[in-house]
Amino acid sequence: MLETWLTRNLDIEVPILGAPMGGRAGGTLAGEVSKAGGLGLLGAARYATAQWVAEEAAVARELGGRFGVGLMTWSLDDDDSLLDAAIAQHPALITLSFGDPAAYVPRVHAAGIPVASQVNTLEDMRIAELAGVDLIIAQGGEAGGHTGRIGTLPLLQELLDATDLPVAAAGGIGTGRGLAAVIAAGAEGALIGTALLASPETVGPDYARERVVSAGSADTVYTSVFDRARHQPWPDRWGGRAVVNDFTRDFHGTDTPVERLEEAYDPADPALGVVYAGEAVGLVHAARPAGDVVRQIAADAQRLLARFA
Ligand SMILES: Cc1cc2nc3c(=O)[nH]c(=O)nc-3n(C[C@H](O)[C@H](O)[C@H](O)COP(=O)(O)O)c2cc1C
Repeated sequence: MLETWLTRNLDIEVPILGAPMGGRAGGTLAGEVSKAGGLGLLGAARYATAQWVAEEAAVARELGGRFGVGLMTWSLDDDDSLLDAAIAQHPALITLSFGDPAAYVPRVHAAGIPVASQVNTLEDMRIAELAGVDLIIAQGGEAGGHTGRIGTLPLLQELLDATDLPVAAAGGIGTGRGLAAVIAAGAEGALIGTALLASPETVGPDYARERVVSAGSADTVYTSVFDRARHQPWPDRWGGRAVVNDFTRDFHGTDTPVERLEEAYDPADPALGVVYAGEAVGLVHAARPAGDVVRQIAADAQRLLARFA
């Protein structure tokens, strides 16, 4: 088996974390990823509630035993009640991403829970290191959902050379080849999101799963247009990578007033609603159970890495 810091310290069988994905990753997805030997994370969106965290944690625990919770640090700066709700569920890992986690890490550690942070630049990593996180996740700009602009491989190489903390990779890893590549480079494993987005265990409209299967790797765009249309107060520096549709073709890169965007946006219409997904969308060809996806990525990576053993 592939043994790394992740498997040893999180007590899991394969070095794969199921990404926290707001609006898409609830207890069923997280539980199935954990059941397959990885660690699935609940994606607590800014608008999630303490009750949602408790209910989804119960589902994940029942299915997979272990689970983690992913929070967005910048949104805790206004209201940190979701952090307390997450800690109360005793997850195996909490991720605090997109912002300085220093104010929150001691509370998580006091509960005996390790903290990881997804970071997008070397400077972000220095901030997370100072905050005392246990694991760095290098999140490249090809990732689905909100992310930075540096590609996964350049960022991963830069961070591995710059820190003594364990580093995992996120962004664009959708097959055993991707996992093998980042482990060979020195990463402790991968956090995968897009590769799971067509799985029936995800939350969200059917069209989102269908679009993930049909889209190719060139069909995504890095944009803030959906945040503007949906009044999501993300700090300016983070855009989100989404599958292109009529909404992005009409409004991305324009200075259309927010009222007009709000009026045009329709989550019930596939041509207008957002489907956040990364460039690994081109690697997803069918709606497969999440557990199968995780097991196959791990087995293929192990086979590829064994060539050099
Ligand atoms: C639909 C979607 C929603 C996401 N929501 C969150 C989130 O709530 N919190 C978070 O830390 N990251 C979020 N992310 C980013 C993922 O945690 C992860 O970095 C990304 O999926 C990894 O890249 P990949 O999609 O290429 O596998 C989201 C990603 C997607 C695709």
